[in-house]
Amino acid sequence: MSPQPKCARCKDMGYLIDRTHEFCVARACDCKAHCSLCGDRGYLYETVSGYEMARECQCRIRPRRLQLFNAARIPARCNGTFEDFKPRAQQKLVLAKETAWATVHEYKREHPSRGFVISGPVGTGKTHLLCATLHWLTLEAGFSARYVESSFLYSEIKNGFSHGQSVLDALQPLIAPDVLAIDELGRGRCTEFELETIDELIARRYNSGRTTIFATNYLLTKRPSATGSGYYDPAQTQASRCLVDRIGDRCWSRLNEMCHLIELPQETTDYRLNRTRR
Ligand SMILES: Nc1ncnc2c1ncn2[C@@H]1O[C@H](COP(=O)(O)OP(=O)(O)OP(=O)(O)O)[C@@H](O)[C@H]1O
Ligand SMILES: [Mg+2]
Ligand SMILES: [Zn+2]
Ligand SMILES: [Zn+2]
Repeated sequence: MSPQPKCARCKDMGYLIDRTHEFCVARACDCKAHCSLCGDRGYLYETVSGYEMARECQCRIRPRRLQLFNAARIPARCNGTFEDFKPRAQQKLVLAKETAWATVHEYKREHPSRGFVISGPVGTGKTHLLCATLHWLTLEAGFSARYVESSFLYSEIKNGFSHGQSVLDALQPLIAPDVLAIDELGRGRCTEFELETIDELIARRYNSGRTTIFATNYLLTKRPSATGSGYYDPAQTQASRCLVDRIGDRCWSRLNEMCHLIELPQETTDYRLNRTRR
C-alpha cells in the first residue's frame, strides 16, 4: 500500500485541478506556499563531477508547468489520467494505453515522438487517453500542448471571420505547441471549407515535424470499393464510415507517416454505459 499522503487535498501532487469552468484549470496547492526543499530561494545546489552547481527547484518550475497545462485547454469533463485508465485486459486498449504512454516517455523537443490515432466506437476511452497524454506532457514534463475538437474548431474559425480573422490566424495557436491533440477527427459535414481547414492544419503540423495525436469514431480501414481517384464526391464522403473518405487522401497519407494507427474493435464496450449500469 502506498504511504498516506501528507496533503489530503492534493495527494502531494502540489496542484489542484478545478473543473467548474469550460476547461480544466490547475493551480498550486496551499501546501506548496513555502518550499521546504530550497527555503523559497528557487534553486538548489548539487555536486556534478566535483563542482557545485545551482539548479532550479520544483517550486520555480511548477508555476510554468501549471501555465502550460492551463494553455492546453483540456475540456473540464476530461479528467482522465494514465493511472485511472483501465484497459480491462482488452488487447487493443492495452496497446492504445502503451502507445500513448510511450509517446510521453520518449518525447524530446529535439526528437518529437511519433503521434498516434485511436479509432473506436463511442465511450471507449479515446478522449481519456488524449487528455492523459496532454496532462502528463505539460504538468510532468513541461512541454507545450493544445487540445482541440475538430467541429468546434470549424465553428470557431467561422465566428472569427466576422472579426476579420483569417483561417491561418485561427490555426496559428494550434501549429505552435509541441504536441497537439485533435479529437473527433472526421466529424462534421465534410464541406470543402472543413476539408481545406483540416488539410491545412495537418499539413502544417506535418511540415513542422511536431507531434500530433488524434481520436476518431471513423474506421482506419479503407473501403474496398475505393477508387483512389481523389475526386471529391460530397454525397459519398458524408455517407462513409472510413476516415480516409472523411478527411481526404492528402491528410490520410500524412497521418500514416506521422502516427501509429490503433483501431479498437467495434465490440469494445462503452465505458459510459457500463458505468451507469453498475
Ligand atoms: N478504460 C477506461 N478506464 C477508465 N475510464 C475509462 C476507460 N474508458 C473510458 N473511460 C471513461 O469513460 C468516459 C468516456 O470516455 P471517453 O470520453 O474517453 O470516450 P471516447 O472514446 O472519447 O468516446 P466518444 O467516441 O463518444 O468521444 C470518460 O469518463 C472516461 O474517463
Ligand atoms: Mg471522445
Ligand atoms: Zn497540497
Ligand atoms: Zn523550492
